[in-house]
Amino acid sequence: MEFKELISERRSVRGYDAAIEHDALVEILREAQQAPSWKNQQTSRCYAIETPETLEDFRASALPSFNRNSSAHAALIVTTYVRNVVGFNNGTPANEIGNGWGAYDLGLHDAYLVLAAKNAGYDTLIMGIRDADVIRAKLNIPENEEIMSVIAVGKRGVEPSMRPRKPLDEVVRFV
Ligand SMILES: Cc1cc2nc3c(=O)[nH]c(=O)nc-3n(C[C@H](O)[C@H](O)[C@H](O)COP(=O)(O)O)c2cc1C
Repeated sequence: MEFKELISERRSVRGYDAAIEHDALVEILREAQQAPSWKNQQTSRCYAIETPETLEDFRASALPSFNRNSSAHAALIVTTYVRNVVGFNNGTPANEIGNGWGAYDLGLHDAYLVLAAKNAGYDTLIMGIRDADVIRAKLNIPENEEIMSVIAVGKRGVEPSMRPRKPLDEVVRFV
């Protein structure tokens, strides 16, 4: 897919017919790893949930009903970053952003991931409304990782609506 087409075709999809297949999932996870990161420290982490029983249990306990419904039948990827590495020099924040840089790197990683999924013919939904404590316990995620999003990946079952964007001059200032 042409890049311009890719970024205009990617939308948040809230209805799936089927999960992404395992091999395709591995491929998009590899592509997401090509995202840039602070000093190439690569602190982004993914927990891919594929088995139907685990997915059902996870959705029921870790997601509110609207996200549970939106992500039904899709595979799920929990994304985290390792705290206190990116943006730090020997444990001291390099500047005022601190762990915000780890979140920044993970956001880049996840942007690559959703575009890679779209390029491979799958749709995605990034979900920030989730229960991090339940996710940590269910997936045994170490305490030094910050749990961020849950991303649904699968074959779309509904057509997404196009969400408008603000005028460029409201969000960009040329100086
Ligand atoms: C960090 C983040 C968290 C989000 N959390 C949710 C969520 O919990 N549930 C949901 O339905 N959409 C969620 N979204 C999707 C946004 O609502 C969506 O990206 C936005 O409305 C723009 O629409 P588009 O992705 O189709 O362009 C989230 C998006 C991001 C980037």
